[in-house]
Amino acid sequence: MKSSEGQLMEWAKKYNFLDKNRPIIERAKYTIVYDVNGKEYIDFTSGQMCSALGHNHPKIIKAIMESCNTIIHSNNSLYNVYEIELAKKLCEICPEPLKKAFFLLNGADSNDGAMNVAKRYTDGWEFATPHLGFHGLSGTPRYVTFAVPQANKKFGPAIGSFAMVAPYCYRCLLNLKYPKCDLQCIDLSFTLLDAESVGALAGFITEPMFSAGGVFAPPKGWLKKIKQKCDERGMLLILDEAQTGLAKTGTMFAFETEGVVPDILTISKHFGGGISISAVVTTSEIADTAKKKGFIMSHSQANDPIGCMAAIASLDIIIEENMCERAEKVGDKWGQKLTALYNRYENVGDVRGKGLIRGIELVENRKMRKPAQKLGKDIAAESLRNGLIFGSLRGGHILRFVPPFCTNDDEIEQAYNILNKSFETVLSKRKNLFKSLTNPLT
Ligand SMILES: Cc1ncc(COP(=O)(O)O)c(C=O)c1O
Repeated sequence: MKSSEGQLMEWAKKYNFLDKNRPIIERAKYTIVYDVNGKEYIDFTSGQMCSALGHNHPKIIKAIMESCNTIIHSNNSLYNVYEIELAKKLCEICPEPLKKAFFLLNGADSNDGAMNVAKRYTDGWEFATPHLGFHGLSGTPRYVTFAVPQANKKFGPAIGSFAMVAPYCYRCLLNLKYPKCDLQCIDLSFTLLDAESVGALAGFITEPMFSAGGVFAPPKGWLKKIKQKCDERGMLLILDEAQTGLAKTGTMFAFETEGVVPDILTISKHFGGGISISAVVTTSEIADTAKKKGFIMSHSQANDPIGCMAAIASLDIIIEENMCERAEKVGDKWGQKLTALYNRYENVGDVRGKGLIRGIELVENRKMRKPAQKLGKDIAAESLRNGLIFGSLRGGHILRFVPPFCTNDDEIEQAYNILNKSFETVLSKRKNLFKSLTNPLT
């Protein structure tokens, strides 16, 4: 017999370490998830961004079934057919010279792998990273995840990690305006880095577009200048494309539009179509040197056929179903809806994002830009109650939407109606709905 919501909550309180919000999810298909009571939700977080291809895509199910009928797990000191086929497929969609790949289990893991490669290659151990980046909550990536400051408080000694000024132009720390600023944030950051470094710089790790730190893209030229500064110091540029990679922003990788190829690329999230697998891709020269210097990194299940087969299917779907185009189409439609909210509510201070990664920043008013954290949290909670799932970040005032590639026009319309209604409900409770409407007639 099926357990009731009440019974499950009672057990959760008793046995589950972590406290979580309702609802209790039971199943999913494409853009829709269902809770234990059968209630439907439009999932604009694509699960934890790992089901961007749509929950339970039939080709992913088929790949998993094939693995169940052949081999699920394999010895990681021996090659298996599927990790070889996956490496070939992945390297074929990566630009030169990124032609050597190995596999791990999740996003943190892939960044750990990349940082380990950089350490071996450079013989250094210091890493620089923008102060609003997110690279995972375990291993060394934990210490370059400054977007979640509480993660490392009283957590023991950190590796040599240095926070650089993130290119968050809406709230520029230097109070400058792009492009007049000439990207002084980079010059300042590297001057401080040079002063602080003990001469063991290994790499610079960043997202090409920041997600958990606030859904913002660096201005044009930022990544190129970062790469140049890294090259001058012999540091490797590690690009974490967990969120942005594999078509999410309209190109196979976000770095493609910047005219920069990283030294090491990491991929995770929807790489496995919902199954946990990640990748580190680098050049033959870096791979060979790191191996010669004793590089070692793996996990018992890092090359499991089940994950590799799911990832092969996921790459096939991305290519065959032209997901780059789809990301632009769905993303632009949703972006227009967010712009409509900006035109309607004074509390929407900024609308940002690209492809399927979209965000709005809520402020108490547009002039002073005071973050409206409670408002964001309340709108997210009200939307959840009404059947729309999305994230509220950085204390609540940044709302992040990551709809799956398969989201259709009806779902976009429904999601907008729920979100707009939530703004109305929450603002009218604050008794300032009328004041907050930029134009009460729109
Ligand atoms: C850019 C980025 N890198 C790495 C990670 C960590 O991935 P995981 O949670 O799979 O370890 C995340 C998680 O959200 C992320 O957004």
